[in-house]
Amino acid sequence: MTTNRIKAVAAILAIAVSLPFFGRNWHRCMHLLGAVMFLGDILVTAVWVSVARKNRDPEVARVLVRGLFLTDALFLLPGVLLLLLNGGQLGVEWFKAGAAWIIVSVVLFVLTGLVYGVLLEPVQKKLARAVDATPAGGTLPPEYDALMAKWFRWGGIATLLPLLTFALMVFKPTF
Ligand code: HEM
Repeated sequence: MTTNRIKAVAAILAIAVSLPFFGRNWHRCMHLLGAVMFLGDILVTAVWVSVARKNRDPEVARVLVRGLFLTDALFLLPGVLLLLLNGGQLGVEWFKAGAAWIIVSVVLFVLTGLVYGVLLEPVQKKLARAVDATPAGGTLPPEYDALMAKWFRWGGIATLLPLLTFALMVFKPTF
């Protein structure tokens, strides 16, 4: 199955289980499943990419980049949808009450989305192009290392922000 098809199926499933018919506990459960998939994906991806990038074989780099797009489709996208759709329903009363923790959380989550969409995803696409342009047995271009360094820099920020959101969700501080 292509990555786009996996994305479409994952999105449809995430939307189907988030429809507003299932009751509060169900939506809480789906929101938490989203948090597990989303945080789990970004934390584990950082580890396996940092291990795999040490190998300079273009075939390994090709598998690495394919893995990035695949795990985005399987875990990141449905995780984000589960968080947003179920969090939105759980949050109605908190939003009406103007609770600062939820408003700050939404701002941080939007910032995370911007970092991902504007910086990380384009870097992943450039990585894919750099790897595709390298023949089997060839040498990865210096651009590959520069892009990897950028991916880790922005990826670090895109990991810290949701960890902060996670803490706000659990402690619900009043500012
Ligand atoms: C726009 C984004 C989000 C909204 C509107 C939202 C909304 C909410 C609401 C209203 C609750 C309380 C549910 C209840 O007690 O019934 C909650 C709980 C929770 N959220 Fe979010 N959330 C969002 C994003 C996130 C993100 C990005 C994470 C993790 C990275 C996260 C992790 C959690 C966790 C772990 C809880 C359970 C806290 C507890 O029960 O102590 N949420 N969320």
